[in-house]
Amino acid sequence: MTIDKKHLLNWVGGKRLLRKTIAPLIPKDLISYIEPFGGGGWVLFYKEKWADLEIYNDLDGRLVNLFRIVKYHPEALKEELRLLLGSREMFMQFLNAKPYTDIQRAAQFLFLITRSFGGRGETYGTVKKSAGGASKSQRNILSKIDSIHERLDKVLVENRDFEKLIKQYDHDGAFFYCDPPYTFGCGYEVTSTEGFAHERLRDLLKSIQGRFLLSYDDSPKVRELYKGFEMIAIERLNGINNKGGDRKNKMFKELLIANYPIEDLFNGRTN
Ligand SMILES: C[S@@+](CC[C@H](N)C(=O)[O-])C[C@H]1O[C@@H](n2cnc3c(N)ncnc32)[C@H](O)[C@@H]1O
Repeated sequence: MTIDKKHLLNWVGGKRLLRKTIAPLIPKDLISYIEPFGGGGWVLFYKEKWADLEIYNDLDGRLVNLFRIVKYHPEALKEELRLLLGSREMFMQFLNAKPYTDIQRAAQFLFLITRSFGGRGETYGTVKKSAGGASKSQRNILSKIDSIHERLDKVLVENRDFEKLIKQYDHDGAFFYCDPPYTFGCGYEVTSTEGFAHERLRDLLKSIQGRFLLSYDDSPKVRELYKGFEMIAIERLNGINNKGGDRKNKMFKELLIANYPIEDLFNGRTN
């Protein structure tokens, strides 16, 4: 039996379906590889190493605590998870639980995300979805922790707002893969009621010394914000994680935008 171990959790807006399209667009001559909107880290984990310095960042402290515990205390996390039953009762209990330690916090968060419908951590999921979805096998989760622990060995894990992070690590050898919330809003825990500051990100990216690759929903707003940058329009089947309603199971249009030439890379001509 083969298990794709290079991921730990499904995440709303996660790039599971796009990672193979995005990877060839990432330049090879990088000094540092930085993901300001790390989420489930699907692109970061897709390759063994992107650059000598690699940084995972997310403003959501639950994700950051989880990846730090996987990096520094994998055995303790696995012990904690081994004691958990994959039951609805335990799921309901954790929804309102106040964990005592960071290890318990990481275990309960991972439990809620991997056992929930669509990886949203809200309702108990009873049907196994496609690979990387609501994995019900405890053994699979434990082995994924081992492989992500190894992958994170030299990765710095940060918990900052994107602006501080990008300014801190920007230089001409830096590469930022940016996967911000979509403009129609995905309801992330950390996004304020006014919504995500798309203009603030655009203004910052316009001024950096390094290179960036950005993935977004293909909307008039995004096309207007990034007018003048190279853009590639792509389509993918909408996953359950991108919130149901009208969009569920339909083709979803995304844009890949960069401040360096990506068309040839997309067409397989260079890199
Ligand atoms: C589209 S998801 C990233 C998904 C990720 N690429 C993956 O493959 O799983 C966007 C992420 O941005 C984070 N986020 C939202 N506002 C942020 C901010 N101001 N600074 C840093 N991260 C932020 C959210 O917590 C969320 O995890």
